[in-house]
Amino acid sequence: MQKLIILVIATRNKGKTAEIGRFLKDYPVEIKNLDDFGPIPQIEENGDTFDDNAYKKASFTARVLGLPALADDSGLLVEALNGAPGVYSARYAGEAATDKERCLRLLNEMEGKSDRRAAFECVVSIAVPSGPALTYEARCEGLIAETPSGSSGFGYDPIFFYPPYKKTFAELTIEEKNRISHRGKAFAEIGDEFDKVLIWIRQHMPIQEKVNRQERFYEGEHDCRFNKKE
Ligand code: IMP
Repeated sequence: MQKLIILVIATRNKGKTAEIGRFLKDYPVEIKNLDDFGPIPQIEENGDTFDDNAYKKASFTARVLGLPALADDSGLLVEALNGAPGVYSARYAGEAATDKERCLRLLNEMEGKSDRRAAFECVVSIAVPSGPALTYEARCEGLIAETPSGSSGFGYDPIFFYPPYKKTFAELTIEEKNRISHRGKAFAEIGDEFDKVLIWIRQHMPIQEKVNRQERFYEGEHDCRFNKKE
């Protein structure tokens, strides 16, 4: 039987972990997140691009834990604001601001602007402890609404108008949003080719079981079972 691969999602967010787990539920992969391990230093998201941040989070986690890790980074880019808030999407109205305050700040910046084009982007990085990573990117285009509308979702959803559905993201069901959103599309692509991802991980990882045994051996936990052939 093929060995089960552990994939660590570089987040402490249970909702995000469960959502990613659903995309990968048909594959021989055990999903864990940072809460399944002891204390791990906080990773600063100070890259210039979503790609930088996603790779930084995934590769750091993979290196620290000795396991393959997946991280995503996403945000909103507004044409009339030269791509802002971009990588600052989560901090656009200050570190402690609420989603509502971020939406209001953006609407203020957009006052009087006729070009309302915007896009959500998402980059997902899957890294192994030795450094290499696979990258997936997806984008969803829309318009910044004049006023907020809808109550589901999070972040900028109430002011992101999606023309094909004539609704903001906050007026869509989770299923509708997942079908067309930047994150949904990136994870759908990963799901579609996850067999290849697993082969890539296996090629770049020593067999996890073996690593665990060696570590335990060198730590002095000599168990004769580990010397037996299986
Ligand atoms: P992160 O990738 O989870 O760190 O998200 C960065 C920030 O981008 C979030 O805090 C939101 O403000 C914004 N964002 C990313 N994806 C979405 C989305 O699907 N809807 C609304 N806002 C989003």
